[in-house]
Amino acid sequence: MNIIHISAECFPIAKVGGLADVVGALPKYQSNSTTKAQVIMPFYDNAFRKTNSFKSIYKSELYLGDRSFNFEVRILDKAPLDFDIFFIDVPELLFKDYVYSSEDTERFLAFQIATLDWMLTWENAPCIIHCHDHHTGLIPFMLQESHAYASLKNVPNILTIHNAQYQGGFSHELVHLIPDFNFDHVGLLDWNGMVNPLAAAIKCAWKVTTVSPSYMEELKIKANGLEGLLREESSKCSGILNGIDWNVWNPETDPALIKNYTINTIDSGRAANKKYLCDRFNLDFNKPLFGFIGRLVYEKGSDLFPEVIRESLKQTTHSMLLLGSGNAAQEAEFEHLKTEFEGSYNAFIGYDEQLSHIVYGGADFLLMPSRVEPCGLNQLYCLRYGTIPIVRSIGGLKDTVTDLSETNGFGICHENVDALEIKTAIDRGIALYNTTEKFNAIRKQIMEIDHSWNVSAEKYTNLYKSTTN
Ligand code: ADP
Ligand code: GLC
Repeated sequence: MNIIHISAECFPIAKVGGLADVVGALPKYQSNSTTKAQVIMPFYDNAFRKTNSFKSIYKSELYLGDRSFNFEVRILDKAPLDFDIFFIDVPELLFKDYVYSSEDTERFLAFQIATLDWMLTWENAPCIIHCHDHHTGLIPFMLQESHAYASLKNVPNILTIHNAQYQGGFSHELVHLIPDFNFDHVGLLDWNGMVNPLAAAIKCAWKVTTVSPSYMEELKIKANGLEGLLREESSKCSGILNGIDWNVWNPETDPALIKNYTINTIDSGRAANKKYLCDRFNLDFNKPLFGFIGRLVYEKGSDLFPEVIRESLKQTTHSMLLLGSGNAAQEAEFEHLKTEFEGSYNAFIGYDEQLSHIVYGGADFLLMPSRVEPCGLNQLYCLRYGTIPIVRSIGGLKDTVTDLSETNGFGICHENVDALEIKTAIDRGIALYNTTEKFNAIRKQIMEIDHSWNVSAEKYTNLYKSTTN
């Protein structure tokens, strides 16, 4: 079986969030003696491009309406990954030092068209085309409807929704950019008067998945306007929980950590990582440390932290450390709070992969008060590293974190995205931290929970098989 993942992100090449982690890990777990999983992604002008060399394997031109653009398909000279990865280079549109911008319609349309144009030239069509999020959402439509791709029409295709908030909508005035199709079927592209790539993919893909079972159920109620569509299409929809790359995210071997550790050396290992964080960020090593890592956007609930910091840090019982970037106003406020709460709160505003690993390895608790969380990988990394998650019970957080009060519970859950509830959850964390024996036992318990991709990769295999039954 030959599975082709098509995605805007893939770790370690280009990462904005968890999509990259998933696409950079799942293919490894899908590849075996009978299955080959490969990734097709855009060629960006980023750090990875600058530090690796590539060779061109295909050259052509693509059309967006009547404009033509040269494109090439590149591969790595020396493959550092465990699976093949193909880069679509459309210099005029895709080759930028960022992944996303506010003007992405033509960029990702060109990416999708180039991908399918190239695929037409393959000796053997893939067995499965697996599309991720709206940036690849027009592929199921084009496979089904565009005359140019008729020979690929029978290739089963899957859409995985990592985040339904973003749908890639654009005006019908641009519909002529999509390769020719029977215009009677233009309705398949439409949602609420716009061309909506995510909606088109939900309509046309053979199967639709979300990255956790709870998120799929939640989307049927609230999906930024697509809830009715998901209910209509529910017979082909299911939720498959993300896994994590067990080798990359392994505290025993993780080169990003200050000190590696196992379940047997957890105390000294985590203490060394915590000490590094406390020294660097001027925090008290002897107090419980509550961390946050993530995009500073409404969905993540990070806008509530200023109030949480002001209220919660009236007490001198604990410290808070934030690592994130995003909304400019939030960034400014988090910077500003540094002077007000010097010694008990600090923040790194920006993206720092290594620091994130040290926070997973050194913070005592990780806060995730998300309004929406399709799966969430942070809590899974936390568990693997022995950091106790404090989460709002939603989406994938609900599916992966059990509150302490329940049998075999190990995390702290709250129901609402509310500063007071987050503060109360922090207080529960402080109480747990002070119950040393229980706190230590839970840290070890969570390190043993298996969220590797093995189980979920098999679920995808079964789903792929179901498309040919
Ligand atoms: P999302 O994809 O919605 O942002 P996930 O929980 O699925 O959320 O994945 C977030 C990923 O991005 C994790 O690997 C997390 O460690 C990483 N991450 C988020 N913000 C930062 C940051 N500022 N610095 C380093 N890593 C970050
Ligand atoms: C999205 C979601 C996040 C999920 C990630 C990977 O970015 O916001 O919850 O973990 O995709 O699937």
